[in-house]
Amino acid sequence: MKAVVYEEPYTVKIEDVADPRIEHPNDVLVRVTSTAICGSDLHMYEGRTAAEAGIVFGHENLGVIEEVGSGVTSLKIGDRVVMPFNVACGFCKNCLAGDTAFCLTVNPGFAGGAYGYVAMGPYTGGQAEMLRVPYADFNCLKLPEGDAFESDFVLLADIFPTGYHGCELAEVSPGETVAVYGAGPVGLMGAYSALLRGAAKVFVVDRVPERLAKAEEIGAIPIDFTAGDAAEQIREQTNGDGTDKGIDAVGYQARSHDLGHEEPATVLNALVETVRATGRLGVPGLYVPSDPGAPNENARHGQLLVSIGKLFEKGQRVGTGQANVKKYNRQLRDLIIAGRAKPSFVVSHELPLDQAPMAYQKFDKRIDGYTKVVLHPQLAA
Ligand SMILES: NC(=O)c1ccc[n+]([C@@H]2O[C@H](COP(=O)([O-])OP(=O)(O)OC[C@H]3O[C@@H](n4cnc5c(N)ncnc54)[C@H](O)[C@@H]3O)[C@@H](O)[C@H]2O)c1
Ligand SMILES: [Zn+2]
Ligand SMILES: [Zn+2]
Repeated sequence: MKAVVYEEPYTVKIEDVADPRIEHPNDVLVRVTSTAICGSDLHMYEGRTAAEAGIVFGHENLGVIEEVGSGVTSLKIGDRVVMPFNVACGFCKNCLAGDTAFCLTVNPGFAGGAYGYVAMGPYTGGQAEMLRVPYADFNCLKLPEGDAFESDFVLLADIFPTGYHGCELAEVSPGETVAVYGAGPVGLMGAYSALLRGAAKVFVVDRVPERLAKAEEIGAIPIDFTAGDAAEQIREQTNGDGTDKGIDAVGYQARSHDLGHEEPATVLNALVETVRATGRLGVPGLYVPSDPGAPNENARHGQLLVSIGKLFEKGQRVGTGQANVKKYNRQLRDLIIAGRAKPSFVVSHELPLDQAPMAYQKFDKRIDGYTKVVLHPQLAA
């Protein structure tokens, strides 16, 4: 089958790889109809991880079941399903607590697994024609048949639940003010979720005009961090108090305000400044324990200069980690079906699989309005 294969930094190619097959009675094979490119893929794409040549990317996958293992009980051939990017077993201690991003079964020696991701276990990615889904009864979320809401539903694999998770971590509640750093897909979904949860005022910080425009389109207040200190701009608009809650949807590749260099702790520190005393910070943005491309020796070991003194002084609380997609994807699916959520506003491009190499280049540079790309492997090139 055809798949998006990582070759070397800044290069992916469409290659022929082995078709997946049922390896365990609780596997299903899914013919992929939609699979999205994620900001997390870019960390591998840019050569910032230990990802090796030959890995098939793709952890945001939706498709139709084509083959069912003999132990699968709740699914049948022809079912349309979307899979959380987290591969999880459903029966370990963490899965039972709802913390499926930290499954103890699927990736021995590490908490958590994912498709097509370095260090996240032996699960081939779904930017391909077919995908093997393990623990299928647990990992498949059924969707209405047909192709309605396709570009909304594919976002249930990661960024809609991940943005929502940012709000959960920060405990965003009705009537509150919220600052979201990053207007990438995750930040936009964080802002959208905050508004769905009844936030009174949501600020979104970035510098990319098309992304800030999308934030404004959904009713958030755009803040350009190159136009002056973002925390100060937001404090000015919240009576000098700062916001109740804050979300980091940028992660360790954050840029300095003059765009001169990478400053891995800059968003964490900006949040400490932006959020009021006793406010909460949700950090779905990715931080890594080692990063060969980091700008200094400490950061190369995942150690950042975070204003812990100020955090203590303000009594803020921080929550972070991979999103437990399974905790929210059913409820968010039903908001989509009921017409109460339309997350696909974030999707800028829908392309056949063959155009993935070009889409990676443009999304990586954040140019030409490439905000969120959905690939359709069944679409002719
Ligand atoms: N926790 C999870 O489960 C999970 C899931 C998906 C993605 N992620 C992570 O979330 C982060 C965002 O993902 P994405 O797909 O939206 O990526 P993205 O790279 O498209 O978006 C990041 C945005 O941050 C902006 N930015 C850079 N420096 C900034 C600064 N100093 N202040 C404000 N904005 C700044 C960039 O311009 C960009 O628009 C990544 O780190 C990704 O790995 C985490
Ligand atoms: Zn993703
Ligand atoms: Zn588990």
